[in-house]
Amino acid sequence: MNLSIPQLTKLEGTRYVPGDKSISHRALMIGAIADGVSEISYCSRAADPMSTLSCIRQLGLQVEDIDGRMVIYGSGRHGLQMSHAPLDAGNSGTTIRLLSGILAGQHFHSIIIGDASLSQRPMKRILDPLRLMGAHIFGTDKNTAPIKVEPVDRLHAIRYSLPIPSAQVKSSLLFAGLFAESSTIIVEKTQTRDHTERMLGLPTKKEAGSFIVEVHPDIKIEGKKFIVPGDISAAAFFLSAGMIIPGSNLRILNVGLNPTRRRILDLFISMGGNIQIENENIIEGEPVGDLLVQYSELKSNLDLRGAEVIDLIDEIPILSVTALFAEGYFRIHDARELRAKETDRISAIVNNLRLLGCKVEEYEDGFAFEGIKKYSGNVLPSYGDHRIAMAFGIAGTRIPNVSIQDIECVDISFPEFWKALLSSANI
Ligand code: S3P
Repeated sequence: MNLSIPQLTKLEGTRYVPGDKSISHRALMIGAIADGVSEISYCSRAADPMSTLSCIRQLGLQVEDIDGRMVIYGSGRHGLQMSHAPLDAGNSGTTIRLLSGILAGQHFHSIIIGDASLSQRPMKRILDPLRLMGAHIFGTDKNTAPIKVEPVDRLHAIRYSLPIPSAQVKSSLLFAGLFAESSTIIVEKTQTRDHTERMLGLPTKKEAGSFIVEVHPDIKIEGKKFIVPGDISAAAFFLSAGMIIPGSNLRILNVGLNPTRRRILDLFISMGGNIQIENENIIEGEPVGDLLVQYSELKSNLDLRGAEVIDLIDEIPILSVTALFAEGYFRIHDARELRAKETDRISAIVNNLRLLGCKVEEYEDGFAFEGIKKYSGNVLPSYGDHRIAMAFGIAGTRIPNVSIQDIECVDISFPEFWKALLSSANI
C-alpha cells in the first residue's frame, strides 16, 4: 500500500514507543534457556521479535501473552527440543544470528530460514567463528541463509576479536559460549550495544583500548522479570518530527538511554535540537528517561566517521532526513555496514534524497549532501525496509506531495507508526 503523507503543522501530547527491539529479542531468548519462569513487560510485539517468539515456541517453549506480559516457561539451557519444521526468522537478522549461537550448542539438528531480504544478508560473520568453536553449522554457497546446524556434544571456548563491529555477532558467540567447555572471550575494538552482557550479568572490562566480555558456561540463568524500555531507535523518528515540524511540543515516555544506543540523542542535541531528558532512572540494568522535544532551528556541519557511525547505525536513515532540514552539510564515511542491512541503506537513502531534489554524492562507504534547500515531493520507494519507510515518511510531513510505497514494512519494528504519526497532529 502507498501512503501520501499530509503536511503536519505541529505534534503535541505524550506518547510511548514500542519496547526496545534488541532487548525484546534477547529477553525472549534468555527467558527460553533460563531455569524457571520469566515475565517480560513491554516486550515489542513488532514482526521481528515475533519471529523470535515463534522460533522459541517451535523449540518447545510454552509462552503465554497474559495482560500484555509475555510469560515464558524456561526449559533450561539443555531443555530445548528439536523443531521438525524449519525455524523462520522472517526479516530478522537478530533472530537468525543470535538463535544460531544457541542452536550451535544443541544435541539436535536445526534449519533456520528467512525472507527474501534476510536470505541475502551475510552470515559468514557468524558461521566462521561458530565453526572455530566446533559448531557444525552451514549456510549456502554464498554463506547466506538457510542455515543448517548439526548436533555437537560440546563447543570449544575461543578468544575472538570481532573483525567487524556487530552486536549480533558478539551476542551469537556469547550465547554459544554458554554451551562451551570453558570461558569464551570476545574482544571488540569499537563497543557495540551491550544488552546481552547486561542481561546475562557478564563481566566486562576495557584493556588497551579494547572492550572485552567473557562468558563462562556455568553461569546461572534464572527465570526473572524483564522490563523492556521504549526503543530509542523508534523514538528517534518522533524526536526528528518534533524538531522539524514547527510548533511541536511532544513528550516521549520511558525511552531506553543505554550509553551504547543514545548517541542519536546527543547528536540531535548538538545540532541545536530542543530536547530535554527528564526522570532519568535505571530499570533492570538499563538506563531510561522521558524525552521532551520541541521545534528547533537545526544547524550543523556533520562529518561522521569511525566509532560514532557504529553507535548510530540504525539511526542513519532518520538522521539523514533530519539533516535535510538543518543548515550545513552532512557527510558520512565508514558506514559500509549500511549496505548489509534490510536493504542497501546507502543506496536507498541516496536514491530517495535525489528523488526529493537533493544533490547527493555517494561513496562506497557513505554519502554527503547539503541541508536547507528547496525540495520537491515525489513517490518514494521504501525498499521493503522499515527504517527507510519511516524516515522518509517524516520527510513527507515537511515536503509537500511525498508518498511512500509499501508502507506495511514498518510492522517489522513499529506497527503503530503511521497511526501514531498522523493521529497526533493538528493537520
Ligand atoms: C542489533 C545489532 C545491530 C543493529 C540491529 C540490531 C542487535 O546489527 O543494526 O538492528 O540487536 O544486536 P549489527 O550487529 O549487524 O550491527
